[in-house]
Amino acid sequence: MYARCCKNIVNTVLVILLWLASDLMQEVQAEVEQIIRSLIEEVKKELLITLDDPARHTQLLKLVDTIQCLGIAYHFEMEIDHALQHIYNVYGDHWDGGSTFIWFRLLRGHGFYVSCDIFSDFKDITGSFRESLTHDVEGLLELYEATYMSVQGEAVLDDARSFTITHLEKIAKDHLQRNSSLSRRIQEALERPIHKRLPRLNSLRYIPFYQQQVNHNKSLLRLAKLDFNRVQSLHKKELSQLSVYRHSTSSLPLVLLMLLFVYIYNGWWWKGFDAPKNAPYMRDRLVEGYFWAIGVYFEPQYSNSRIFWVKSFMVSALLDDTYDSYGTFEELDIFTNAVERYTKTHSTTSRWSMTCTDTLPDYMKLIYKALLDIYEELEETMEKEAKTYQLNYAKDMMKEFIRYQMVEAKWRNEGYIPTVDEHKSVAFLSCGYKMLVTAALVRTGDIITEESFKWIDTFPPLVKASSAVCRIMDDIVGHKEEQQREHVASSVESYMKQHDVTNVKNVYEFLNQQVENGWKEMNRESLICKDVPRPVITWLINLARVMDLLYKYDDTYTRVGEELKDNIKQCFVHSMSV
Ligand SMILES: *[C@@H]1O[C@H](CO)[C@@H](O)[C@H](O)[C@H]1NC(C)=O
Ligand SMILES: *[C@@H]1O[C@H](CO)[C@@H](O)[C@H](O)[C@H]1NC(C)=O
Repeated sequence: MYARCCKNIVNTVLVILLWLASDLMQEVQAEVEQIIRSLIEEVKKELLITLDDPARHTQLLKLVDTIQCLGIAYHFEMEIDHALQHIYNVYGDHWDGGSTFIWFRLLRGHGFYVSCDIFSDFKDITGSFRESLTHDVEGLLELYEATYMSVQGEAVLDDARSFTITHLEKIAKDHLQRNSSLSRRIQEALERPIHKRLPRLNSLRYIPFYQQQVNHNKSLLRLAKLDFNRVQSLHKKELSQLSVYRHSTSSLPLVLLMLLFVYIYNGWWWKGFDAPKNAPYMRDRLVEGYFWAIGVYFEPQYSNSRIFWVKSFMVSALLDDTYDSYGTFEELDIFTNAVERYTKTHSTTSRWSMTCTDTLPDYMKLIYKALLDIYEELEETMEKEAKTYQLNYAKDMMKEFIRYQMVEAKWRNEGYIPTVDEHKSVAFLSCGYKMLVTAALVRTGDIITEESFKWIDTFPPLVKASSAVCRIMDDIVGHKEEQQREHVASSVESYMKQHDVTNVKNVYEFLNQQVENGWKEMNRESLICKDVPRPVITWLINLARVMDLLYKYDDTYTRVGEELKDNIKQCFVHSMSV
């Protein structure tokens, strides 16, 4: 009794200390905010001044490129758009300044469909790229990066890609001894071009590199670092909001910190569904799931949306594992029907009741509840904001996702190997990207209207292409592992059966080509699609980028690799020294 009382006093004192500390932090934070604001103004001015002076347009492009690589472009969206629009209006396809490859990558990256004809200027009369290009490593790298903006049928860019890869590989090898930092940089570029990199991770890599450049700009560097840290502390908060209570810990300060977060955010969630206990088969990876969210959109203004997204993601991962490997066919059938019924009755305001799940085993009741909780806890807020329609779309897409999971369960149950087309029509939806991009739109503020939700619902080419990258990459790395247990036929088996191919390597090669085509398709759509605001397009490409990071060689989401652990530490633990 005495000990308990004493503990309570200690607790109280600690809470007070924590409050005081957080007060102090707030003051420091306010100062930093002020510095960030004035640096932002400085850069905005610089963007305008360089835009006004045609002699400095090349410099302008380089500035925009640097800003993007430093991860601070979201502060200057309007200015950058305005600048590139101006460049496009003035020069069209006939850019005559320097840094042509950067010009091409930036304009295409922002939706301006400039022609690739300009690349022919870099060929000699025999039709090969000029030998002289290989003497300039920077130029070669810029050319290499630009080729990733290509769409289907641009042979000159395909040529440029193999030309640059050949020469860059050679240079990297030759410089291994003499200039190892150059060599490493080339290898990193070859491993993953800028276009496939996640913006947040790219800035992590780029900021230290930029700092080493002798002619770097101190203001830009400072802004990038301060902003990185500021965003990082928001990410940490979100992560604790999501994981509060989830990890029981014996460290008192940690418990108190968590309580503090509960107090501030009134947040608890994943704890409600105790995954290790209720679904031991599940890949229980909240931090990795959150990392995925940061891949899609890391910017502070999407904080609310991110929280919702991670929850949707975690539950979909739980469902995926349940449908894939754990639930019996009968259980899954009942579950699927219950979900169908829920969303129907729900639109007529009758609340979900447990009755339709009576026949389910207990672990499934909990999954069902975890699923409904995601939407129910937001209902009031969304009603107030007059955005209930967003939740309805999110629910519908989740329902659709589950329906397609069920089709796969049926195929597996029957040992059925679908044709390639049949497989696509189901697997591109069961991969979940259509549902997840819908969830990403929820609570993103006024830039997103119902039109964007409607657009996704029609499963347009851009959503399809991102889903294709997701599904096919997942199938390739999953192929070996999954064949060891009973599993639904993937792209690999469907292709092998339909085309009577037995050599797995050939199938992988073909499928990798499909992934590349998916990227070209996304590029094309991002240039011609005017149906949705730019961020929606970016998020879809980012979803594909996450796949490239996590599933290139192995499923590192399931078998968390060193690289991912490292990335997570850098994103959420280590701050930048300013
Ligand atoms: C550095 O960048 C800031 C903001 O873009 C600009 O105002 C300043 O002139 C730059 N300094 C140098 C030395 O280029
Ligand atoms: C390595 O290459 C880079 C890029 O070309 C260059 O800036 C740097 O000076 C080189 N370092 C050495 C030690 O030669």
